[in-house]
This record gives sequence, C-alpha cells and structure tokens, in this order.
Amino acid sequence: MRIIDIKLAAGAYVITIEAGALATLGAITLTVAAHGGGRKAMLVVDEAIAGTHGVIAAQSLAAAGLEVVTEPLHASESRKTLGSVRLLYEAMMAARLERGSVLVAMGGGIVGDVAGFAAATYMRGIPLVQVPTTLLAMVDASIGGKTGVNLELGGHAGEAVSEARLVKNLIGAFWQPRAVVIDPRVLRTLPPREFRCGLAECIKHELLSDRALLKLIAEQHEVLERHDDAALADLIGRSVRIKAAIVQRDERESGERALLNLGHTFAHAMESVTALGLKHGEAVAIGLCAAMGCAASLGRVDAVHSEELRQLIESVHLPSRLPRPVPLRDLMLAMTHDKKVADGRARLILPRREGGADIVNDVADDVIRAAWRSIGAAP
Ligand SMILES: NC(=O)c1ccc[n+]([C@@H]2O[C@H](COP(=O)([O-])OP(=O)(O)OC[C@H]3O[C@@H](n4cnc5c(N)ncnc54)[C@H](O)[C@@H]3O)[C@@H](O)[C@H]2O)c1
Repeated sequence: MRIIDIKLAAGAYVITIEAGALATLGAITLTVAAHGGGRKAMLVVDEAIAGTHGVIAAQSLAAAGLEVVTEPLHASESRKTLGSVRLLYEAMMAARLERGSVLVAMGGGIVGDVAGFAAATYMRGIPLVQVPTTLLAMVDASIGGKTGVNLELGGHAGEAVSEARLVKNLIGAFWQPRAVVIDPRVLRTLPPREFRCGLAECIKHELLSDRALLKLIAEQHEVLERHDDAALADLIGRSVRIKAAIVQRDERESGERALLNLGHTFAHAMESVTALGLKHGEAVAIGLCAAMGCAASLGRVDAVHSEELRQLIESVHLPSRLPRPVPLRDLMLAMTHDKKVADGRARLILPRREGGADIVNDVADDVIRAAWRSIGAAP
C-alpha cells in the first residue's frame, strides 16, 4: 500500500493507493465522519459505475457502520453545471446531511468537481472524500482541492446545454478532501481511450519532475494497458507525489502551481476547435509536443528531447500531431482567448534541458507559430 501524506494550510490528509482499496473506504470515511461528530455519508457516484464499483463502495461504507445514501450523477460536461449542484443540494437536504456528514465523490474528474463543489458550499462546507475512478482523476483532478462547475449561458437550471454555451470551470472553490482513496482495480472497466488521456497527464508530471522517469512509462506501457496492479500503483504513486509536492508549495495557485499547465495553453486552443474531436488528454499530449517545440526553438532543450517525447507519446498511442490541419491563424486567435495569455502576450510553461519547467513570459509569436506548424497546423 502506498500512503502519501499531504500537509496544507487547510489541513492534512492522506492519499491511499492500493489494489482493493475500495474495501477500506468505509473505515477511512468513518474516521473522517467521527472527527466531525457525524455518522452519515452520501456517496455521489458516476452513474456509469454505480451498479459495479459503486456497489462495492456503498457496501464498504455501510459495513463500517455509516448511514449511507447513494446518489448517482451523470458525468458529462454539459451537466457539469450549477443545475446539477442544485439537485445535489436537494438530495443532501432530503438525506438530512449535517455539518459532520461526509460527501464521498466517486467517479472521474467531472463527478469529483461537481460533488466537490457541492461539499464545499453545502452548509458552508462539509467533509469530502475523493474516490477517483479514471486515471486522469487519480493523478490530477482529485489532488489539489480544486472543485467547480461550468457556467451555462442561457437555458434553465438542470437542463443540459450545448458545449458552445458553457464557460468551462468558471465557478469554483478550493476545498481540500479529508482523504483520497485510489483503487487501481477500478481502471479495468475504463475505456482504453480514457486511460490514455490519463497517461498524458502522467507524462506531463514526469516532464515537470525528472525526464528519466518517462522511460519507465515507455517500458511499462504494455503491462499498464494489461492493468497490472503493481505497475499501475507505481505509476499513479509517482504522478500523485509530483502533483502533491507542487500543490503543497503553492496551495492556491499564486505561483509555481501554474507549472501544472504545461502543454495546456496549446491544448485549450485545440479543444476550442470542436471539429478536431480531441479529448482533453489527447489535446494535452499534442500540447506537450508543441511546448517542447517552443522550448527547442528557444534553446531551452535539445532537438533530441523533443524527439524522445514525440516517440514516447506515439508509443502509448496518444496523438503527437493535430488529427487534421487547422489554419494557423485560428489556433493563434484561440490562444489569445486563453486566460493564461495576459494582455495579448503569451505566457507559456516551457520545459528545461535538465528536467522541470519554467513560466516564460513574452514568448514571441514567431516561436509559437513555428511550434503550431511543427504539430501540423496549416500555414
Ligand atoms: N479539479 C481539478 O483539479 C481538475 C483537474 C483536471 C481535470 N478536471 C476536470 O475533470 C474532468 C475530466 O475528468 P475525466 O477525464 O476523469 O472525465 P470524466 O469524469 O468525464 O470520465 C470519463 C468517462 O469515464 C467514465 N468512467 C469513469 N470512471 C470509470 C470506470 N472506472 N470505468 C468505466 N468508465 C468510467 C465516465 O462515466 C465518463 O464517461 C473535466 O471536467 C476537467 O475540467 C479537474
């Protein structure tokens, strides 16, 4: 079992990573509840896994002596809204959750963000336990205390709205969990494409730490895709430690935490071109290649480092180039809409030769254009 201790101004908590850890969820949650004098838990679970992993989680909570109510949640960006949060508040009220009751958020990043925001705001905040069930949520979304929803422009509360009318992650709160329980076995049911999206974030973390670790992903890739418990727990543990270390040094994203956006300014621009049909992790994988391209142009890394990254990304079946050419000017324009591009000047996170990355202000447009072309943008 891997136990990672997190110490923050908002409090300390433990991340448990172990095959079969779902069986210990009840005991962990009971400790959290007892701390606040409560005995109730609401399990907010992704409806796609409610009848499988959700049942094991609910049994574990009940066996520990907690009074449990299960609330399935549909995980889609169009329902990651205040309307869904309101429905959760109503369910929490109907279940008579109190200040000491625990909300257990079980699912991918969508459930973690929505249920986490509900926990942060119901009765001015109740204890939260995160049980991430996608690789992306295990290594990224569940760590660091960011919760939140998209703002739907127009429409009625609770109604699904088209993605074009959503302002992503505009509403949110920092709300640290009291515990995170990661069971790599639940990844056996995750679609392979979702699994690879999580791998893109692992690659990002290892670029931010020690490039030598990237070789491990390349070497273990086949074992990982076969869901070897020990290899998965190793990968997740390494990645969680890297993100957790950064979050502990910069809890509220006032400085260093921005490094976690490596590749993301490019990725967000690609994601705004909906015709590309890229998932976030896929856009991040291409974005990492673009950021590496910029770093190579500026002499921050060598061409061989760029090439190594490209080969690794392709070897794990993630894209390293745009799936079809997009006009360069559209991508440059989309980039200026990103909140990390201050005053029209690009502020990028760029890797360094010795491993790690820096926030680089005022990157010249020519350098960015060349990076877009290198990943397949149309001139
Ligand atoms: N809070 C943060 O710091 C943070 C960081 C990164 C991303 N996010 C957010 O996370 C979201 C993306 O998260 P995600 O990639 O986990 O997506 P997701 O929550 O949409 O899950 C992806 C898909 O996998 C399904 N699923 C989940 N677990 C499963 C399992 N074990 N087996 C089978 N299917 C399963 C879901 O139903 C969904 O269809 C975005 O909304 C993003 O904004 C938040």
